[in-house]
Amino acid sequence: MADTILVTGGAGYVGSHVVVELAKAGYAPVVLDNFANSTPAVLPRLQALAGRPIPSVTADVRDAAALRAVFHDHPIAAVVHCAGLKAVGESQERPLAYYDVNVGGAIALAEVMGEAGVATLVFSSSATVYGQPDHLPVPEDAPLRPHSVYGRTKRVVEDFLRDLAKANDNWRIAILRYFNPAGAHSSGMLGEASRGKPANLVPLLCKIAAGELAELAIYGGDWPTADGTGVRDYLHVQDLAEGHVAAMRYLAKAHGAHTLNLGAGRGHSVMEVVAAFEKACGRTIAKAVAPRRPGDVAAYYADPARAAKLLEWRASRDLQVICADAWRWQRNGGRY
Ligand code: UFG
Repeated sequence: MADTILVTGGAGYVGSHVVVELAKAGYAPVVLDNFANSTPAVLPRLQALAGRPIPSVTADVRDAAALRAVFHDHPIAAVVHCAGLKAVGESQERPLAYYDVNVGGAIALAEVMGEAGVATLVFSSSATVYGQPDHLPVPEDAPLRPHSVYGRTKRVVEDFLRDLAKANDNWRIAILRYFNPAGAHSSGMLGEASRGKPANLVPLLCKIAAGELAELAIYGGDWPTADGTGVRDYLHVQDLAEGHVAAMRYLAKAHGAHTLNLGAGRGHSVMEVVAAFEKACGRTIAKAVAPRRPGDVAAYYADPARAAKLLEWRASRDLQVICADAWRWQRNGGRY
């Protein structure tokens, strides 16, 4: 029988793609989400893409009683923990909410997993834990100096999970440091649909190309990079989701906590992303250089060698595919 995998935040941008890839790989995903930044309208699409029923539970990951009920009702073998708050700017204004949801959620989940005897966990961390790196590409043992409250909540949870695994060898934990997830499902049926104005580059380009926003403010044209704009490691969200499946397979044979970068291993500047997006949508993106955004760094991209070696995973979709898939999602409405 297929292993049942609980995906917290399974209705969200990354979680929804993880659910589909898990199902494609033969697992039986169960979604837990409080729909704080997502909608149940994604669920029928998940079932259609997965080709199987996807049970869904509406609950907050901090709610230990609700979690206990999920573990009672479903034969959960492992958990992918994607649920959390993720807006860098908002985290500076609402530190209590970010520590509560991100740290409190992980503690409640680990507690109930312990009670249920479930010890396999894949955790959504972020490359933001590195802050400004000293060297590129960034390996997993680079110093952790997050610039934001959001990044610090991820670092705290990482430490917590490594401490759990040190104290009890039963745990099998993969801590996945995402670089810049972008793009949408190639079917055009799943994509980023966060509430409010997007903060991230590719969703902004979608809205500008569609005429919903006027122009792109390029946050700094004088960074120490080849064209003066910020450089990031954009990773197709389906590649990222496949990385979770690879991590789940790896944990079947590995105890302990394993920290892994998930990135494509190459950087693209804001100007390169704009050019790729213009090519994908066949429209011109209005843009103007604006002041740097507080907390931003010039450049970072992953050293993905550990994931390649241990997980036998690497990103296979390039920037042009990311832009084409994001634009397809936008043309389909860009929302659920
Ligand atoms: N950018 C602009 N204009 C915009 C938005 C972004 O020029 O309106 C630039 C940024 O300065 C940066 C690049 O586009 O150079 C990418 O910015 P994003 O906001 O899309 O991504 P970030 O790298 O800032 O953020 C991502 C994740 C966060 C994570 C962070 C860690 O979205 O969840 O990496 O730095 F915390």
